[in-house]
Amino acid sequence: MEDKLILSIESSCDETAAAVVKNGREVLSNIIATQIETHKVYGGVVPEVASRIHIEVIDKVVKEALEKAGVSLKDIDAIGVTYGPGLVGALLVGLQYGKGLAYSSKKPLVGVNHIEGHISANYIEHKDLKPPFVSLVVSGGHTFIVYVKDYGEYEVIGQTRDDAAGEAYDKVARAIGLGYPGGPKIDKLAKEGNEDAIKFPRANFHDDSLDFSFSGLKSSVLNYLNQCKMKDIEINKADVAASFQKAVIDVLTQNVLKTCKEKGVNKIAIAGGVASNSSLRKTLIDVAGKEGIKVLFPSPVLCTDNAAMIGSAAYFNLMKGKVSPFNLNAKPNLKL
Ligand code: KG4
Ligand code: ZN
Repeated sequence: MEDKLILSIESSCDETAAAVVKNGREVLSNIIATQIETHKVYGGVVPEVASRIHIEVIDKVVKEALEKAGVSLKDIDAIGVTYGPGLVGALLVGLQYGKGLAYSSKKPLVGVNHIEGHISANYIEHKDLKPPFVSLVVSGGHTFIVYVKDYGEYEVIGQTRDDAAGEAYDKVARAIGLGYPGGPKIDKLAKEGNEDAIKFPRANFHDDSLDFSFSGLKSSVLNYLNQCKMKDIEINKADVAASFQKAVIDVLTQNVLKTCKEKGVNKIAIAGGVASNSSLRKTLIDVAGKEGIKVLFPSPVLCTDNAAMIGSAAYFNLMKGKVSPFNLNAKPNLKL
C-alpha cells in the first residue's frame, strides 16, 4: 500500500503541537511548544491566555514540524486536527489553522477526538499493537476505561463522575505546596513516603459500575491537611503524596482489571499524562502480570499532549474513509 503522510495539529489545552506521521505509526517530527511556565504562576491553565499563546506560536510550530520531517506541504496526504474535547478557544486556534491549510492545499481534513489521540499514542510506541485491547486514559482532563474493539471503534466502560485523575494530582500537589503541574512532583515525592501512612478513601459505586470519583479523595486529603494544621501536627508531605497516590492507583488498577476479565482481553494500553506515572506503571505491570495480562504504555513524550498521537488517530480514520467537512466546529465536550 502507498505510504500516507499526515500533518497533525493539537491545541486543546496548554500545548501547541504539530507533527508529521507516516502510516499512523512512524513519527517523522513531533514539535511541542508548551505553555506550562506561563500558567504555573496561576496554579493552573488560564483558558484565555492559552488561546492567545496558541495564536502566537502555531504558524512557527507547524512550519517546524514540516521542516524537521524534511517534507513540504505538497508531500502531505491529509491534515489531522484535534476538534475536541478541550478548551473551546484553544481548540479553535488549531482547528481553524488546520482547516485553512487543508482548504488552501486541497487536502482532506480529518478531525480527531483528543481522547482517541491519547489511545493512539500506543500504536506509535508498539508497532504491532492491534485491537481489541482495553485502554486506560488518565490525563489532566479525563479518566476513561475504554474497550477498543477495532481501529476507531470504542466502548466507554467507565469514566470519572467528577475530577479527572490528573486533576486530583494537580489539586493535591497544590495543597501541599508542590506547584503545577503536580503529577510529576507527587510521583517523585511519593517515592520517599509511606503509602500506608494515611488511610484515604477509595470510592466504590454500589451499582456494579466501573466509574471513578476522585473529588471525595481530594477533599479527604484537604481535610487531613487542615486537621494537622489545627492540631499543630507536622505534615509529612511525602507520606501524604504516597498515600494519596496509592488510593488513586488502587481504584484505577482494580477497575481496569475487572474490564479485562469482563471483555476477555489480555492487553491493557494506558494513555494520557498520568500514564507516565512510575508507580501506576509498576503496579499495573505487577498486578496484571499475575493474571497473564500484558501492560503497554507510550514513552513519556507521547503520554502528555502532543500532535504525533493525533496524526496516528487521523491515519486510521482516513483509512476508514472518515474525512471531515470544512464546516467542522470545535466541540469542547466531544464524547468518544
Ligand atoms: O494528557 P495531558 O498532557 O493533558 C490533558 O489532556 O489533560 O495530562 C496532563 C496531566 C496533568 O494533570 C499532570 O499533572 C499529569 O498529567 N501528569 C502526571 C505525571 N505526569 C503528568 N500525573 C502523575 N504522574 C506523572 N508522572
Ligand atoms: Zn490530553
